[in-house]
Amino acid sequence: MVDAYTRGVVAEEQMSALAMAIFLRGMDRDEIAGWTRAMIASGERMDFSQLVRSGARSATSDKHSTGGVGDKITLPLAPLVAVYGVAVPQLSGRGLGHTGGTLDKLESIPGWRAALTNAEMMDQLRDVGAVICAAGSGLAPADKKLYALRDVTGTVESIPLIASSIMSKKIAEGTQSLVLDVKVGSGAFMKDLASAHELARTMVDLGTDAGVTTTALLTDMSTPLGLAVGNAVEVQESVDVLAGGGPADVVELTVALAAEMLAASGIPDADPAEALRDGRAMDVWRAMISAQGGDPGAPLPQARESETVTAEADGVLTELDAYKVGLASWRLGAGRARREDPVQAGAGILLHAKPGDAVRAGQPLLTLRTDTPERFARAREALEGAAVVLPSAPEDRPARGVVLETVR
Ligand code: URA
Repeated sequence: MVDAYTRGVVAEEQMSALAMAIFLRGMDRDEIAGWTRAMIASGERMDFSQLVRSGARSATSDKHSTGGVGDKITLPLAPLVAVYGVAVPQLSGRGLGHTGGTLDKLESIPGWRAALTNAEMMDQLRDVGAVICAAGSGLAPADKKLYALRDVTGTVESIPLIASSIMSKKIAEGTQSLVLDVKVGSGAFMKDLASAHELARTMVDLGTDAGVTTTALLTDMSTPLGLAVGNAVEVQESVDVLAGGGPADVVELTVALAAEMLAASGIPDADPAEALRDGRAMDVWRAMISAQGGDPGAPLPQARESETVTAEADGVLTELDAYKVGLASWRLGAGRARREDPVQAGAGILLHAKPGDAVRAGQPLLTLRTDTPERFARAREALEGAAVVLPSAPEDRPARGVVLETVR
């Protein structure tokens, strides 16, 4: 079925009926494994083993996030892991909807290019260790077709279909180990811990069965990661993390994912926080950006217009909803409505408080940025009810870190 669909023999109508049946009835473990194998077989498989065999790199490791708001972790993470001699081939995508895209963020760096040939990618992995680039069209073409169909038939949010879609691309990419960042909360596909756990379990089993050392971290996406949501503003925040600073939650998640990738690569005693503090990760970042034509020292684009959203009362900020902030950032121009639309490099949102912080009435909570001020009104509409300020923090909600659970 997958092969015939990829070749155009099975029509869109027939595949959409099957996708809806899978969406409603689910699949068992063998069915998911068979479906994923067929998706992998629809295209090419990449092979980075020569980098390890030649001794240029000690291992290959990759990270995949199921997508969130303010999720810029790939940017500091890839160079950080490469510090330790591991090759990190990070094939990334563009944003669609309220979640941002890694390539859109990096394209705000003057000169940087996302499209590399396989040979360029291999050279950069050998010489620098880290690559973040666009996936070529050869990997799992069945998924490309099927994902577009799912998008218009309301069948995206199905655990077997999401798991096989992500894992077919990751297995075809040929990495030795993979760490999955499965997001949980309003800004994620999976809104609750139980379904995020099931998605993580399904993907870890698929990876492990295919010979890829796979682990998953379930991480909080009820509120945006860090203090910046958008494109250039997220690059700036990533550079702050690489300079040894940056918001605590972004540093926590970057270090936790790096530690998993390094442990899976046979380097369990590495201290990735140290490589952020002492500048080694920044050195790899600069080399990685330069190798793809970017100028790591160039000033980043700034939006022409900004407006602030202020707190309505004194108290404690108890919620700042990830989905609503992501939607507002998208409407400000950081994301696109159609695949072919351009994004604004400077658009996005800066956060001035995080859940748990005390706030005063009239204090700025968010700065909205765009080049096109007519977008402010719809962004403000999206933000209605996003920030909840209560007189005091509820006692039944203890402070928690970003990493909620690990699935192996
Ligand atoms: N990301 C993917 O690549 N596929 C899905 O189905 C969902 C998220």
